[in-house]
Amino acid sequence: MKDYLATIVKNEKIAENIYAVTFLLEEDCKARCGQFGNISVGGTHLLRRPIAICKVEGREVTFCYQVKGEGTQKLKTMGAGMRSRILLPLGNGFYIPENEQKIALVGGGVGVFPLISVLREYGKTKEISAYIGYRNQGAVCGVEEFEKATKFIAVTDDGSYGEKMNAVQAFAKDLAMGNRPDVVLACGPTPMLRALKALVEAENLPCYVSLEERMGCGIGACLVCVCDMTNGQKARVCKDGPVFNVKEVVL
Ligand SMILES: Cc1cc2nc3c(=O)[nH]c(=O)nc-3n(C[C@H](O)[C@H](O)[C@H](O)COP(=O)(O)OP(=O)(O)OC[C@H]3O[C@@H](n4cnc5c(N)ncnc54)[C@H](O)[C@@H]3O)c2cc1C
Ligand code: FES
Repeated sequence: MKDYLATIVKNEKIAENIYAVTFLLEEDCKARCGQFGNISVGGTHLLRRPIAICKVEGREVTFCYQVKGEGTQKLKTMGAGMRSRILLPLGNGFYIPENEQKIALVGGGVGVFPLISVLREYGKTKEISAYIGYRNQGAVCGVEEFEKATKFIAVTDDGSYGEKMNAVQAFAKDLAMGNRPDVVLACGPTPMLRALKALVEAENLPCYVSLEERMGCGIGACLVCVCDMTNGQKARVCKDGPVFNVKEVVL
């Protein structure tokens, strides 16, 4: 992990309220899928914003972000040539062992972005089915990446793109048709992950989820990001996660 000085190469709208920003780092960076960066947006915003690494190629790293509050609003206004500090790579990321060949990706909302990095890392060596839920047609993004998966099922909350259902329902439907993965990797809003947890427990499927918590330091020091574990202990999402075995976390 390093605090990189990064220069924006481009910062473009890719869907309704969603942007992709590419930074050029001072030197090459190696990152595993599911890891994240903590991005400084400068000004009065002292706390950095944690965003999943979507793509890393040599010195270039791309993040996709939804404009939510002041920090991401500020990031949206930053153009090519502007500089920022980014701590990366942070967190543990997703790791798929050799013996797990059939992978299901289940993602919703901003949770689709770390799953794109899984596809980029494992797409050529694993059989990947992606079940991706968007709010509506305007929010659809990353399609050109997900279409590289063995199977890609996109759904929306209002039925304006694909079937009207959420990502967990799309996965459950395919599962009922006999398409059973070796492991499920997921990221999305907590209610989505809760529904997925119930499904994988009932189906006895291994599953790893990437959690989103409010963060401060991003490196395990401030304890802002702690979550409850099923064994009664606490874990730091930034350092012990953000990826956890779904059995181990309270959702
Ligand atoms: C590991 C990880 C990966 C993430 N990846 C992405 C991604 O790829 N794309 C994306 O759009 N968003 C992602 N998020 C969520 C993103 O960090 C928040 O949406 C963002 O920090 C909101 O900042 P803001 O200043 O615009 O909003 P505000 O609500 O004004 O933020 C105020 C403070 O709360 C924190 N905060 C607010 N919401 C969240 C949240 N959901 N998670 C963590 N901190 C939050 C901010 O860091 C800031 O310190 C990720 C979060 C985590 C923890
Ligand atoms: S954000 Fe500081 S410990 Fe996790």
